[in-house]
Amino acid sequence: MRTLLTGGAGFIGQHVLRELLARGHDVCVLDSLREDVHGRRPWTPPPGVAFVHGDVRDAAAVDRALHGRESVLHLAAKVGLGVDVGDLPDYASSNDVGTAVLLAGMARARIARLVLASSMVVYGEGLGVCPVHGPVAPAPRCQKALAAGQFEPPCPVCGTPLATGLVSESAALDPRNAYASSKVAQEFYAANWARTTGGSVAAMRYHNVYGPGMPRNTPYAGVAAIFTSALRQGKPPQVFEDGGQRRDFVHVRDVAAATVAACEKHDAGVRAFNVGSGTPRTVGEMAAALATAMRGPAPQLTGHYRLGDVRHITADSSRLRAELHWRPRVEFAAGMQELAANA
Ligand code: UD1
Repeated sequence: MRTLLTGGAGFIGQHVLRELLARGHDVCVLDSLREDVHGRRPWTPPPGVAFVHGDVRDAAAVDRALHGRESVLHLAAKVGLGVDVGDLPDYASSNDVGTAVLLAGMARARIARLVLASSMVVYGEGLGVCPVHGPVAPAPRCQKALAAGQFEPPCPVCGTPLATGLVSESAALDPRNAYASSKVAQEFYAANWARTTGGSVAAMRYHNVYGPGMPRNTPYAGVAAIFTSALRQGKPPQVFEDGGQRRDFVHVRDVAAATVAACEKHDAGVRAFNVGSGTPRTVGEMAAALATAMRGPAPQLTGHYRLGDVRHITADSSRLRAELHWRPRVEFAAGMQELAANA
């Protein structure tokens, strides 16, 4: 397929690009090489790949990149949790406006197939299970509770600490930070576009993606990259809260395979897909696995917290398996060894 990949020079984008090429697709990359991600480093596309160096908010660049394409994989975005409220305009502009400009361009170019990089953060605190009230949406964690070391979100009805449930795609959306809000907005813009143009959208709700090429040493780096950097300097990983927060760490090559499968197979309607390995781990467990793999000092539990963080967020990715016939291939231990080896 002749496809446009936005954000193809980024961490996940480069793996998606490799997967697209391996599967014989004809690819054009649109990427702004934004300085907060790429520094001033140039980027050269692999042989045979067209490259438009431009911003997804720039309609002229978008039109050039869309010329002759049949589908779009939209990964270009400002990522991470954000540093503070001063980040809001950049999330709204880079992610929301960028997606709106791209969708308008797709309508002009009559391209009907979109895969959108979304995120598990759209679910907020995810799903909790109360011993009394059953499955419930956990109440937000307030600063006072976090400062007192009460990390588990309570039942919104009776206040009992909740057990975690696996979040399915039909769970309510509940974005709790700027990045999450921008991902929800992107999904809604895409759904509006699909309704008016008859296009198809696969919204890939990525879990915590890790693997070779992870961004490091920026405020937007994921926890696995932060721990790897610390261990490389001989320092213990600093684990926030009590280390019991659960995530699903999914390898970037598995994420790339899921993304390309969606582009190849999903061609009707709007569908969200959770993209997780299916095996949740605690952040403390992940820190310990990396420390062992890198023969570094044991992790330190700091009790620090970030107000925008969710406690547990773990996906039910069975829809992706059933409908797109995707299977994760990289085992957690092997993935951590690979991270350690490339640190
Ligand atoms: C991550 C992604 C987000 C994605 C989401 C999907 C990043 C920066 N964020 O968010 O883009 O949409 O997964 O589920 O990649 N922590 C520590 N020590 C640290 C830093 C973090 O213990 O030094 C803890 C945090 O408190 C948190 C966990 O690690 O509980 C994960 O943090 P982070 O890697 O920033 O990812 P998410 O917030 O889960």
